[in-house]
Order: sequence, then C-alpha cells, then structure tokens
Amino acid sequence: VAPTANAPSDKALVPFVSVAHMMALVHRLGAETVLAELATAIEADFRRWEDFDRTPRLPAHSPQGVIELMPTTDGVHYSFKYVNGHPRNTRAGLQTVAAFGLLAEVSTGYPVLLTEMTLLTALRTAAVSAVAARHLARPDARVHALIGNGAQAEFQALAIRALTGADRLRLFDTDPTATAKVQRNLAPLGFNLTTCTSAEEAATGADIVTTVTADKRNARVLAANAVAQGQHLNAVGGDCPGKTELPPELLPRCAIFVEHPPQTRVEGEIQSLPADHPVTELWRVIAGNAPGRRSPADVTLFDSVGFSIEDFSALVWLKGRITPDLCQPLDLIADPDDPRDLWGMLMRAGPEGGTT
Ligand SMILES: NC(=O)c1ccc[n+]([C@@H]2O[C@H](COP(=O)([O-])OP(=O)(O)OC[C@H]3O[C@@H](n4cnc5c(N)ncnc54)[C@H](O)[C@@H]3O)[C@@H](O)[C@H]2O)c1
Repeated sequence: VAPTANAPSDKALVPFVSVAHMMALVHRLGAETVLAELATAIEADFRRWEDFDRTPRLPAHSPQGVIELMPTTDGVHYSFKYVNGHPRNTRAGLQTVAAFGLLAEVSTGYPVLLTEMTLLTALRTAAVSAVAARHLARPDARVHALIGNGAQAEFQALAIRALTGADRLRLFDTDPTATAKVQRNLAPLGFNLTTCTSAEEAATGADIVTTVTADKRNARVLAANAVAQGQHLNAVGGDCPGKTELPPELLPRCAIFVEHPPQTRVEGEIQSLPADHPVTELWRVIAGNAPGRRSPADVTLFDSVGFSIEDFSALVWLKGRITPDLCQPLDLIADPDDPRDLWGMLMRAGPEGGTT
C-alpha cells in the first residue's frame, strides 16, 4: 500500500478477495454448502430477472479465444466480470477460463468488492447447471454423464449431486488423463464413478448429460442418436459464435431453455437454428410463469452460455460471506481529504511517494 498524505476513508479501501482467500472461504464453508448457497442466490435473482439490466456481454474475439466483459446492475449494485475463453491455453499450462470481477454501489459508484473469479466462475457455472437440472430433469434422475473432464468438471458433478441427488457419474474426455484426474478428485467424495471410452457410452443410461468441453469450433461431442428420451442436457461448453458442442440435428428434438435469448442466439447451441426457433427463458420456469419439462419423455436442453446476472448473484453472495480475515483492504480509489483537491493530494505525496 503506497503511503499518501491522507488517511484513506473506508470507502477508498476496497476489500480484495484473492485466490487464496477464496480457497479458504470454500474450505471454511464446504464446497457443497457454497454451491447450494450460490444456487439459492441465483434462483432468487432469476425470480426478479426484470429488475436487472440485461445487456449481452461485450466480447473481443481473436483467433485464439475471446475476452469478455459482463456487466449488469439492479439499480442498487453494479457488477462486471472480466473473463477469457482460450481452449488451447491448457497446452501452455494456463487456464482455459480465468476471471476477476468487481461489485460497486450504484449510489456513489464506488467499488465495494474486487475479487478473483476463476474459482467463483466454476462455482457459479456449476450452481446454474444444477439449478437448471433441478427444474428440468426428471425428479428421479440419479445418473449424470459428464463429458469434458477439465477445470469445470468436478464443480459440475458436486453441484448437480447437491441439488438433484445424482450421485452415479459416467465420465468421458477425449484426453484420458483428464478423466483420471476427475476420478482421483471425486473418488473420496462418495460418487459411484464409471469411466467411459466414448461420449455415447457415457450418455447411455444417464438421466442428466453435461457437456463441458473446450474446443474453438462447431464440435459434435455427442452423436444425436445417443440422446435418449427423458434425458436432461446441460450444454455448458458451447458459448461463442462458432464454438458449439451438439449436432444441430439434435436441437429440434429438445425443449430448449436459455438464459438471455439475445445473447444465447449469438453464442449458444441455438446459433445454428433460425432466429425465431422457440426457446424458454430459464428464469420464467424458476419464477413459475413458464412450464419446464412437460412429460417424462421430453428431452430438455439447458443451452448454457453464462450470463452477467449469475456473476452479480455470486458477487453479492461473496460480499455477504467475506470476513476481515478473508480479504485484504486494497488502496484502489484515490481519496483526497478535500474531494476536489486531487492534485494537492498528489503533490503532498512527494517525489518518492512519501508524504511531505
Ligand atoms: N456456460 C458457462 O457459463 C461457462 C462457464 C465457464 C466455462 N464454460 C466453458 O466450459 C468449457 C470447459 O471449460 P474448462 O475450464 O473445464 O476447460 P478445460 O480446458 O479445463 O477442459 C476442457 C476439457 O474438454 C475436453 N474435450 C475437448 N473436446 C472434447 C470432446 N470432443 N469430447 C470430450 N472432451 C473434450 C478437453 O480434453 C479438456 O479436458 C469451455 O468451453 C468454457 O468456455 C462455460
């Protein structure tokens, strides 16, 4: 913290949650408790969806990936997340998805929280999948196929089990070392695990199928004829123009649920469908003003792309959960004693950064 001539006010010192703090919070509360609390927070905000600004995120595409800004506000708080999606990053030892985010109060525009969001994104994405599965999967769902066993995978498995009870897990990844990693991580947590040699084998007999792969193309991670009546699909990894997971011929068989149609029609699986293909906003199902699954034979599809309101929910949840030992005050906002004497504050600091 650089010294200044001023004693910073509380509003100028912004609580910062580092990766180490976030990990300590998850250990303190327990991952399943965190996932359940996030699911509750997300559902509560989905029920008041129309209170929020619903600007689709702002993407900056490159041949390697995408960098996105995801802002929203409910008029009381404002939030944004900075997040990337670079499927080839893991080859260089980097995460496919890395993120940080900020929560501010609308009344002053001052930040009230700055935080890592790589872990928080994995947690919130899993909580959203689980919320969708709780509302759309058959109530007797017990078997979960998890296709794509990378960074997000364990979070998805735990959240879905916590919210639906599905504790039989069928794993597949094109890279067997990823599947071995998930197996190693989840075996001590009481899952009944089966590793599979194809996505189709993983999906066979599953009630819930989550695709959470990373590839910068229109992939076909699962053959259309491998999807059986009554299944619920969470398609999590298709989230950019030209980056999808499911064969387009599967989609007309599905009852499709989305976050925010103007964003999902550009980024989701439904980018291959006509712009007027009927979809249902997930928030309407949660709020009780649109039907979810209509029959046990329906194939339901949650075409997840990730929406700013979910990050808002996670940030407000985090703000309510951090304690002084789980954050660090960050000297982020200049805070002259006389708010119009910013220059005077700078000059009094002196050339060495010390006070004069
Ligand atoms: N919808 C959302 O809200 C949301 C949020 C976060 C991440 N994502 C997306 O989820 C995906 C996974 O993210 P991650 O952090 O776990 O990435 P990751 O790179 O850690 O893992 C991806 C895994 O997918 C596997 N894979 C690639 N193609 C496959 C295929 N055809 N079949 C089976 N497995 C395959 C890879 O081997 C890898 O193990 C990314 O595409 C990311 O953009 C979406």
